[in-house]
Amino acid sequence: MARILIVDDEEPIRQLLGQILERSGYECSLAENAPEARELLKQHNFELILSDINMPGESGLDFVRYTLAEYPNTAAVIVTALDDPLTAEVVLEIGVYDYIIKPFGRNGVMISVANALHRRQLEIDNRVYRESLEKKVADRTSELRDSMQRLRKALEGSIHAMALTVETRDPYTAGHQQRVADLAFAIGKELRLSDDRVQGISMAGVIHDLGKISIPAEILSKPGKITKIEFDLIKTHPRVGYDILKSIEFPWPIAQIVLQHHERIDGSGYPSGLRGEEILLEARILGVADVVEAMASHRPYRPALGIDKALEEISEKKGTLYDPDVVDVTLRLFNEKGFKHE
Ligand SMILES: [Fe+2]
Repeated sequence: MARILIVDDEEPIRQLLGQILERSGYECSLAENAPEARELLKQHNFELILSDINMPGESGLDFVRYTLAEYPNTAAVIVTALDDPLTAEVVLEIGVYDYIIKPFGRNGVMISVANALHRRQLEIDNRVYRESLEKKVADRTSELRDSMQRLRKALEGSIHAMALTVETRDPYTAGHQQRVADLAFAIGKELRLSDDRVQGISMAGVIHDLGKISIPAEILSKPGKITKIEFDLIKTHPRVGYDILKSIEFPWPIAQIVLQHHERIDGSGYPSGLRGEEILLEARILGVADVVEAMASHRPYRPALGIDKALEEISEKKGTLYDPDVVDVTLRLFNEKGFKHE
């Protein structure tokens, strides 16, 4: 049965309330002032307090306010001779369940106490339910976040595995795709594209030459000049890469970016001769990063030309072959921001 704390400075009232409630099976403790009541609260759990308002020393209102704040599972009912609408308003505001006016009748007290205890139980159940619901939602959210992260990791792993597949056949360009991806990533960041978009550019960069898988290794690693037929064959690699990737539902337009990475803004690129903004910004970025990396690095048919030559090339062809903004940002990265080509 519920345990009730009765706080009243008048002994006969304390005793009467105690008798009424104990006869109904409640367990009661009596206190004649707030400090005594606080002590009892420390020693036992009370489901309910019945408190007077006007008492010598600390007022009942302050005591009730304190109790409700410190013991959220304890309910409160005021028992007072003070029949005043303003006080009643304050009492309701601080969360008291009922306001019994003295002199009270036995039945009135009984009903009020039963109602208060019932309402208290409902509110506790409600709170427990809400808290368990919130915890469930939080748990599920973090599970989802974890599995998203695992999927992202698996996706990146698959993309890197594809990149390695092409590169094992063509050792001269080993690492080329990753370096292009790193530079393209930096350009995207410098252009203040969203993190997600920049991530897409990087992923496309890592596999942009995937289509070279269909070109004989002898052509890829052939020293010296290549024939027109050989070059025509090499030019198929963006479309081959696109065909391999197009059915994968990446969160970014990876296949399109790969398809367009040799398009040039004056329409002189391949495979479709797209112009200007017909070419995805991601592909315009990748195009510049690809040229800079390729020129700066060693190739089977020529030694490395160096980063200065590469930057000279993109400056000269800025606005004809290459997107002017992308070129400006790339130059800034190398000349002012100390970007280093690995
Ligand atoms: Fe390429």
